[in-house]
Amino acid sequence: MTATWSAPGRVNLIGEHVDYNDGLVLPFALAFVTTTRVSAREDGVVHASSAGRAGTAVFGVDTQPGDVDGWAAYVAGVVWALVSTTVTEPPTRKSQAPAISGGMDIEITSDLPVGAGLSSSAALECAVAAAVGDEFDLRLDRGELAAAARKAENEYVGAPTGVMDQLASMLCEPGHAMLLDCRSLEATHIPFEPAGADLRLLVIDTRAEHALIGSEYADRRATCEAAAAELGLAALRDATLQQVRSLTDSTQLRRAQHVVTEIQRVRDVAGLLVAGCPQDIGPFLSASHESLRDDYEVSSEELDVAVESALAAGALGARLTGGGFAGCVIALVRVARLVPVVDRVEAAFTLHGWRPPHVWVVAPSRGAFRRDEAGATS
Ligand code: GLA
Repeated sequence: MTATWSAPGRVNLIGEHVDYNDGLVLPFALAFVTTTRVSAREDGVVHASSAGRAGTAVFGVDTQPGDVDGWAAYVAGVVWALVSTTVTEPPTRKSQAPAISGGMDIEITSDLPVGAGLSSSAALECAVAAAVGDEFDLRLDRGELAAAARKAENEYVGAPTGVMDQLASMLCEPGHAMLLDCRSLEATHIPFEPAGADLRLLVIDTRAEHALIGSEYADRRATCEAAAAELGLAALRDATLQQVRSLTDSTQLRRAQHVVTEIQRVRDVAGLLVAGCPQDIGPFLSASHESLRDDYEVSSEELDVAVESALAAGALGARLTGGGFAGCVIALVRVARLVPVVDRVEAAFTLHGWRPPHVWVVAPSRGAFRRDEAGATS
């Protein structure tokens, strides 16, 4: 038997650095996907290969954190998470579900840009989780597969990310952004089809790099947790602006101010989308960028230049998307301003002597999906 699944990358329309504060986020899935083909083997060994990467990673199905590194750690981490989920946490209704027995061959292909902040790691984890779950009939639902994928990222790879990326990759629906409550994990799918309103959503990959993204992310997260503790709250989700402004540590105050105002911006944008007014969300996107730049301090010169030049050429709104420091900006533009915006951003990059950015027009696409042997999808 063989099971083949594709899982998409995502962009976050708004709600940045709030998922690990129990907040609200509004991501949507991209049409770029990572595809994984899994075939069971009898020998307890996993062979994983990825198109475009030399060699095959070989590890036991009983792999433990620390055994495997590099790209294959994301794959091994999911196998580890699924084995521990199905062996140690079988809820009653699944007690008859078979666990992973034997090993497997895993073949991976992808058209998703890696390292651009479009959640290529979550797409890889989710494609592996869904295909392994299918091949071994683990009977896990999409939320449980996303949880295993996130466990891999947090506990096997060691990146302390929030819940957004894997749930977006597993749960998003075409033509919709997903309003995700990161405390209850309740997902509400809200229609968002820019093209229907003569709008386009651009993703602009600055192609900039930043060596310290991992440690900066962990630092922001720790500061938020400290601020919540200082206020006697479970998470900054529960804070008011008034409480936040009583914080005596100015770094905590600014970080928390971003979180509280950003959660409100998510509510506002979700409300506008529900009301059928996507053309009005621009100012909230731009305000999010300013807050991420000034209060949360996760922007970069390249991200700021991309946002500023897009706005100068008539974008309705623009912001960095994802963790920040490098990666992508999104810009909402009217169709008539599409070419001028792209031209202006490219010219600004040339002026700075930077590599030209990669630019895509994107639309909300579907979450993870199965492919049959002929390549058809379901
Ligand atoms: C990364 C993490 C997410 C989220 C964003 C910032 O993409 O993986 O969990 O925290 O940064 O919003």
